[in-house]
Amino acid sequence: LNINWFQKEANANDEVSMTLNISADLSSLFTWNTKQVFVFVAAEYETPQNALNQVSLWDGIIPAKEHAKFLIHTTNKYRFIDQASVLP
Ligand SMILES: *[C@@H]1O[C@H](CO)[C@@H](O)[C@H](O)[C@H]1NC(C)=O
Repeated sequence: LNINWFQKEANANDEVSMTLNISADLSSLFTWNTKQVFVFVAAEYETPQNALNQVSLWDGIIPAKEHAKFLIHTTNKYRFIDQASVLP
């Protein structure tokens, strides 16, 4: 939804804070044998150093099928930092 701030320092790692709406219906993952579901959102992007970068932004545990359909309004739970100074 929004880039809240973006920090770019000379010779330092880039970091960005974002606001996200995360919505999903994961009800179909629940069977008679499902205790809980772990869900995460990761940013995946390409940089000159790495063909694939993956950074976890948010995660959660769904304890029951009744909670499997959700919409969460949040900022990234884990810091989104690139190992170099290349976030666009
Ligand atoms: C994001 O979530 C908030 C809170 O549920 C909602 O009010 C808003 O309309 C949502 N925005 C978009 C673009 O879906």
